[in-house]
Order: sequence, then structure tokens, then C-alpha cells
Amino acid sequence: MVARFNPFRPNNMAGPGMFVGRVDELKIIDQCLFQAKNGNPQHFLVQGERGIGKSSLLFYVEYLARGELTAFTENTYKFLVVSIDLGGCTTQFEIIRKLGRGLRQALADHNEAKEKAKEFFNWLLNWEVLGVKFHKQDVDLDAEQVADDLVSQFTNFCKQTHGLLDGILILIDEADRPGEEAGLGAFLKALAERLTRRNCNNVLFGLAGLPTLLGKLRNSHESSPRLFETMLLEPLEVAEREEVIRACLKQAKEKNGFETKITQDGMNFLVELSEGYPHFVHQFGYSAFEQDTDNEIDEDDVGEGAFKDGGALTQLGDKFFNEMYHARISSEDYRRVLDAMAEHGDRWVARKTIIAESGVSETNVNNALLTLKAKEIILQDETRRGFYRLPTNSFAAWINAIRAARAKSDALHGEGFAG
Ligand SMILES: Nc1ncnc2c1ncn2[C@@H]1O[C@H](COP(=O)(O)OP(=O)(O)OP(=O)(O)O)[C@@H](O)[C@H]1O
Ligand SMILES: [Mg+2]
Repeated sequence: MVARFNPFRPNNMAGPGMFVGRVDELKIIDQCLFQAKNGNPQHFLVQGERGIGKSSLLFYVEYLARGELTAFTENTYKFLVVSIDLGGCTTQFEIIRKLGRGLRQALADHNEAKEKAKEFFNWLLNWEVLGVKFHKQDVDLDAEQVADDLVSQFTNFCKQTHGLLDGILILIDEADRPGEEAGLGAFLKALAERLTRRNCNNVLFGLAGLPTLLGKLRNSHESSPRLFETMLLEPLEVAEREEVIRACLKQAKEKNGFETKITQDGMNFLVELSEGYPHFVHQFGYSAFEQDTDNEIDEDDVGEGAFKDGGALTQLGDKFFNEMYHARISSEDYRRVLDAMAEHGDRWVARKTIIAESGVSETNVNNALLTLKAKEIILQDETRRGFYRLPTNSFAAWINAIRAARAKSDALHGEGFAG
């Protein structure tokens, strides 16, 4: 068979052309942009599990804010967009340096703005040098001083680019990564307050991170969460999952010059296995597409692609659930206990229910729960005796997918996925 382009991309953000759903969130963010454009910024914050689509949403917002896409409301914007991620940042110094670099990059890419804001651009160039000096002398960065400087630069910049730009949008992905001691919450609060005081009302912050983000911000500064309109990303609806798959297959047709179809059963199975996690849709889709040989993805392609060694389930296990994956396959009892719990998603389950539904003896369930809890693979309710749950719904989805794929896959007797 000729080489085929596989349109699914489990390890990459969805570009605007492949982006599906998130209508409610985009409406809120549109409103935030509109507010900032009109001088009353409403900062926003997106939380969600791994692989739920946070970075893809921010990427879409980038296009929206730069005016390369139009919002549902037909609003158009022309913000200077600074996009950074805090992966690997552990100190406030590193956060500030990332922000400086992001700003410089955004300005360098924007010729008109750069022309109008030579002073800001030069200041940023020096800032980096200054930052390094600070670092070398091991002087604690004075966050207040940095916030002051930055705010005066922002204020001048917004004045100079009035009419040319709607303002500055600063998108911060992986905002949960720096520890509380890095003080992201306090820093953002200091910035936001100074901006208001200086009457510089067109600078907007948009954050994304794991569901631990709000708690971290709060611990850094107790009122910093109040700066933000917050959103929690949920799994995609069934129709949206189908739309993702169709968009991918459409792209494959364009690139390959021939169509790869999908049967209704194949579609249903993909939709079911993913439980709405966009990362899962892409991962299962990728493996099914690879598995298919007759340009029609069917249920077997999906099951086999998921289940076989190196297939989607192994990929997901390696990437997301490494610890959990190894614990799960290390003992039959653990596997059954986790399987029983996964039926309940990430909701609390009574020990009694687990005993009844897993078919494992009481003593062995007790032992399994103890070990799994010690390994932080499951959580125990601190307010009630004998209630446990899985840490995330995506972990439950992955376990459920293993069972569903195993049930349907011929790989059962081969060297299938060791789940
Ligand atoms: N709205 C969407 N439409 C289509 N595909 C999406 C959408 N959101 C996410 N995806 C796909 O899901 C996968 C995960 O998305 P993304 O990287 O944006 O998630 P994330 O929440 O940032 O993950 P992480 O927590 O690992 O950073 C990617 O393959 C991406 O292409
Ligand atoms: Mg991400």
C-alpha cells in the first residue's frame, strides 16, 4: 500500500482548522477580550486535566485576539499577543524572564508595533541583560520593582500604539508548573493592580493549567484567584468527538488524494473509547488509521490499533499513567479493584461496593486499597470511612478503554497490550 498521511495528531495542539467545540468557553473569552478592548479587562483562567485541550484552546484564542479569526459575535480584535508557557519554571526570576522573552518575541513579530514602541523594545533587550545580572549576583528579584517597571512600560506602549492595537493579551500556559514559592499569584496581582492604578486598562492575562492551578495561586496570594473568570474544560460531547474524527479524515483525503472512510461501528467505537478526551480521540484515531489497510476504518481496526503492543493504550499508559499502569499490571487484584472503581469515573466509591463489584475477597480488596493509596494511585475520602476514588476521570476512561478494547480485540491471544 502507498504511504498514507495520518491526520491524527495525539502529541500536538489542534490548529484552528481542526479545532472543535468549546463554544461556551470561547464566548466567555470573547467577552473578556471585548472588555479589555474597551478598557475594563476581565482576566481569565482555564483549568483542565492533562490532554483535555487547554493549549489548543489558548492557541485558538491567539488567532482570535490577533484578528486572524472572527469570534461568534463577529467581534474582531487586534491585540499584541504574548504567548508563554511556564513548563520548567521554578522561580519567580524564571517566570519574569520568560515573560520578558515572550514580550520581545511578540514585538519582534509585529513590525508596526515595534516601530511605534522602539523604547519598549530596547528596554526589553536590556531587561534580559539586567535579569542575568540579577541572577548572577544571586539577588532576589524584587517582584514589586519589576512589576512597577513593567507597568510603566506597558502604559507607555499602550499609549503609543493606541488606534493600532486593542491592547496586550498575555497567555500563560502550564501556569500550574511553578511551585507556590515562585509566587505567580502574587506577581500577577501586583501587576494587575498597578495597571489599574496607572489607568492602563487594555492589558489582559489568560492562564491555563491543571485543576491544581487555582489552589496554587491562592496559596501564593489569597485573593489572586479573584482576578480571574475561571473555566473548567470538560470532555467533548459525542457529536464533537465525531466532528474531530471527520475533520481529520477530511484532511487526510485532501493530503492523500484519496479518501479513508470510517464505518459507523468504527466511529461509535472510537467515540466510546475516548470518553470525550480529545487527546484520546487523536491517540485512538491515530492507531486505528495506522491499523487500517483497506481505506475504511472499521471496528476491528479501532480495537486492534488500541489494544496491540505499542498501540494507543500503551502510548497513553506510557505518557499519562506510567506509575498507575505498572501498578495495574503488577497484580490481578489491583487490576480488578481499579476496573471496578473505573466504572464510577472519578467519583467516590464505597469499599463495600468495590468488594461486591470486583469479585475480589474482602481481605485482598483491603490490601489492594492500602497499597494503591500509598502509591497515590487512588485517593481516600478524609471525611468518611471507607470511600475511595480514582484521581482523574481520564484515568478511569483509560482503564475502561482497556477493557472495552480487550473485549473486542482479536489480539487477546497474541502479544497484546499487557493490561
Ligand atoms: N477542541 C479540540 N478540537 C480538536 N482537537 C483537540 C481539541 N482540543 C484538544 N485537541 C487535541 O487533543 C490533544 C491534547 O490537546 P492539548 O495539547 O491542547 O491539551 P492540554 O490540555 O494542553 O494537554 P496537557 O495538559 O498535556 O498540556 C491534542 O492532540 C489536540 O490536537
Ligand atoms: Mg497543554
